[in-house]
Amino acid sequence: MIALQEVCKFYDDLKAVDHLSLEVAEGEICVLLGKSGCGKSTTLKMINRLIPSTSGQIKVNGKNVEDYVVENLRRSIGYVVQSIGLFPYMTVEHNISLVPQMLKWDKKKTRARVEELLELVGLDVDLYIHKYPGELSGGEAQRVGVARALAADPPIILMDEPFGAVDPINRTRLQKEFVRIQKQLHKTVVFVTHDIEEALKIGDKIGIMDKGVLQNFAPPEKIMSGGNQAFVRDFLGEDYFLKILSRFPIADYLVSFSAPVTDYKLCLPAASNLQNALAMMVSQGEMKTAVQGENGTMLGEINLDTVLRVLKRSE
Ligand SMILES: Nc1ncnc2c1ncn2[C@@H]1O[C@H](COP(=O)(O)OP(=O)(O)O)[C@@H](O)[C@H]1O
Ligand SMILES: [Mg+2]
Repeated sequence: MIALQEVCKFYDDLKAVDHLSLEVAEGEICVLLGKSGCGKSTTLKMINRLIPSTSGQIKVNGKNVEDYVVENLRRSIGYVVQSIGLFPYMTVEHNISLVPQMLKWDKKKTRARVEELLELVGLDVDLYIHKYPGELSGGEAQRVGVARALAADPPIILMDEPFGAVDPINRTRLQKEFVRIQKQLHKTVVFVTHDIEEALKIGDKIGIMDKGVLQNFAPPEKIMSGGNQAFVRDFLGEDYFLKILSRFPIADYLVSFSAPVTDYKLCLPAASNLQNALAMMVSQGEMKTAVQGENGTMLGEINLDTVLRVLKRSE
């Protein structure tokens, strides 16, 4: 869907992006992760041709981006940024309708789409449709920004630190909602962030960048091995192994009870993840916990061995 091959962007002597190659498959979220100034935004902007590359090839749907009429390319790519945000003198409805209007959709279809998108991003239609950006909180404005990028249903979305200006609680909420929306929409996404936990929560694959160079590109479970390991390990930190456990649902690792059910001191709901299980076992000094389904049935156990085995596989 998106393929970068040996892409470079040089500003005089500065190598903002240096021989970067990666592929993002259809329906996949690729997170570009790295410190400020490592070339994440530059990479994103070369994909929708806001910036020309110095050399290398960028293909979208098998076609070189330079061979597209630029308007057509941008129309198939939604773009969400933190700071450019919404037009302040336009209502939420008007902001979201911009691209549909450009595409000359009729009023009824446009209005229906706006309502559908507001619902999708979790904003009450009647309450928000006529508001102005100045009347929205940071989190609400970002939701409208996401709705606007989705308006014409582009297959590709580029997101540049979209939740960066939002407070931690709303940020976590937006991340969860984004994952939920993506499960429904299956967009091809390139998501830029400097936040390791955000990358972990959202990415199907993570590309770690440093000084314009891709240091490793892999699923979060595999990112600690391969690539420039020394850099990657130092950047992610040893506690990455603990963070990664949040990606493993308990339900996938259940084993049958090794003792009578009444012997278990701990019990976790089946919707938890291995990080919850480890935290609970460590804090209570237990080697295992029982797991209970939504309807109250006891399903089996999670034990320390399982968690350690999963961690070993991630290494
Ligand atoms: N228009 C420009 N002219 C010169 N240098 C630039 C320009 N835009 C970005 N840079 C430099 O390129 C590097 C990468 O920038 P950027 O892609 O914005 O980083 P990130 O998004 O990872 O924070 C930085 O060193 C930045 O200062
Ligand atoms: Mg940036």
